[in-house]
Amino acid sequence: MRVLLLLITVFILNSIFAYNVLIHSPAIGTSHINFMAHLADALTEAGHNVTFLVPISDQTLRNRIKVQTKYLMKVEQDVIQKSKTASSGMDEMLQSLWTYIDSPEQNREKFKSFENQRVETCANLLRNEEIFETLKDVGFDVAITEPLSICGLAYFKLLGIEKTIMATSSTHYDHVIQLIGEPDHLSYVPAMQSSSTNKMNFYERYLNYQHGSSFFESMQEVFDREIKLFSKYGIANWHDLYSETSLNFVNSNPYIDFPRPIIQKTIAIGGISVNVEKIKSQKLSEEWNNILDKRSQNMLISFGSIAKSMDMPIEWRTNILKVIETFPNVTFIWKYESDELKWANDIENVVFSKWTPQTALLDDKRVSAFLTHGGLGSINELAYLGKPTIMVPIFWDQMRNANMLERHNGTIKLSKFDLANFELVKKSINNILNDEKYFKNAEKLARLLSKQPMKPKETVIKYVEFVSEFGPFPTMDPYSRNMSKIQIYISSKLFLINSLNTSNSNLKLYQQFVSSQSLRESMA
Ligand SMILES: *[C@@H]1O[C@H](CO)[C@@H](O)[C@H](O)[C@H]1NC(C)=O
Ligand SMILES: *[C@@H]1O[C@H](CO)[C@@H](O)[C@H](O)[C@H]1NC(C)=O
Ligand SMILES: *[C@@H]1O[C@H](CO)[C@@H](O)[C@H](O)[C@H]1NC(C)=O
Ligand SMILES: *[C@@H]1O[C@H](CO)[C@@H](O)[C@H](O)[C@H]1NC(C)=O
Ligand SMILES: *[C@@H]1O[C@H](CO)[C@@H](O)[C@H](O)[C@H]1NC(C)=O
Repeated sequence: MRVLLLLITVFILNSIFAYNVLIHSPAIGTSHINFMAHLADALTEAGHNVTFLVPISDQTLRNRIKVQTKYLMKVEQDVIQKSKTASSGMDEMLQSLWTYIDSPEQNREKFKSFENQRVETCANLLRNEEIFETLKDVGFDVAITEPLSICGLAYFKLLGIEKTIMATSSTHYDHVIQLIGEPDHLSYVPAMQSSSTNKMNFYERYLNYQHGSSFFESMQEVFDREIKLFSKYGIANWHDLYSETSLNFVNSNPYIDFPRPIIQKTIAIGGISVNVEKIKSQKLSEEWNNILDKRSQNMLISFGSIAKSMDMPIEWRTNILKVIETFPNVTFIWKYESDELKWANDIENVVFSKWTPQTALLDDKRVSAFLTHGGLGSINELAYLGKPTIMVPIFWDQMRNANMLERHNGTIKLSKFDLANFELVKKSINNILNDEKYFKNAEKLARLLSKQPMKPKETVIKYVEFVSEFGPFPTMDPYSRNMSKIQIYISSKLFLINSLNTSNSNLKLYQQFVSSQSLRESMA
């Protein structure tokens, strides 16, 4: 009887509180889709009915989508999408990442092929009427998408879903900050693709501003093209779609990231993709155990999946190898994508492997340090697992990620061009392996993260449930969105002037300036 009652209660609770959640996550890159899959899994585990909609952008990701929900809906590429993205120059672009010198203008040119891919993926989703008909009748309570594209939000509108959430797999995207009316303090908050820290000189502040605005411009171009696809359904304007969302999840952790002002809609969930319990329960195979037992210290080298180690300039690879030779008591495990290893001349203390159990290795005490590219996924993992690192950022947000982690003193940062410098690489590896301070600081950060008051997973579940019940929240839309920059900034300037010493003679000039006719007009 009791069991029956319990079952009935569970059933009732479930049917009342289980929400239908739609997550739109185009397969544009492993880190994007993994992040969204973690959100999906958190919600599935909490008992919600998650539909994971994946328009295939990058074909190589088709069979690598790992998500718990049974409603995984892939939108395969049709012949039109295939033909329009066939000669995108993607491969050459990826190979050139190693030696490319980043700058705001270069970045835009560089990632053009990604832009095209996103637009064509959106067009393909819209052509797929069968999927639209299926989704239209589900009755979704809430829908989540990444704001790298306007496609998701416009598609939700078409499906009649009112409660929407953005989730950014990176740190705060520069265009989202602008579009939702968040303060953009580029004088001390590094833009996503910036290589500056929060302490910038005048030129760096200028560059940082350029990074922020050129990213915004490139996004606008994509959105203009995407929204055209929706015009025949009466959706012609993308400008308000972002501010109509109920929440803005960002993959930033307030204890790791640079401090910044945010609006209340922005919720930091950095760390959601690290499942510490699961990592701790992993067992290394005997083969890996034997490798780790061979020498007194081990170091893992991995540059992620986009900029491949095998594409690294040969001089840099051989330089790293020469350094490795000088540490005969350390085993280096190098994630390397090819069997063509003639250049490596059988050096004993390096193990090349196409696949490495990265999280299990990072969690192992026998691995002393990690040399990596600074992808946000790896950064979060190693921060939670307390591993000292050498960061060699290559492109996109990696420079910023490396700067962010370096502030916690468990990391040595090198430029990718430093990989050609024998003395510097050697000194850095020696320090990271043998100077206790890196280990202690990395461990301290890991301890802090394990005890942060709100766990990212809990945060996601509670907020998504809250939006499902009460969203959208138009009263959370800051009025600054309807004001000009002059209106916004002059009033803060007045505040500044008021707080100055009134007997200062310069102040008189300021006051005259502020009270001038033209300025009063622009502020009206
Ligand atoms: C869960 O979502 C799927 C759509 O992916 C839908 O077909 C199904 O009816 C939903 N289940 C419930 C209980 O609403
Ligand atoms: C390697 O270890 C051996 C034995 O412990 C020691 O004699 C040797 O000096 C070490 N070599 C280096 C380069 O540290
Ligand atoms: C990192 O080191 C610097 C310089 O020694 C110090 O000022 C700073 O407080 C340290 N930061 C942390 C998070 O330990
Ligand atoms: C901005 O103006 C538009 C059009 O007048 C209005 O619909 C919207 O609610 C305003 N936004 C805010 C945050 O007040
Ligand atoms: C204001 O400025 C005057 C002259 O510059 C100075 O004598 C005075 O101490 C200042 N007052 C305060 C409160 O700073």
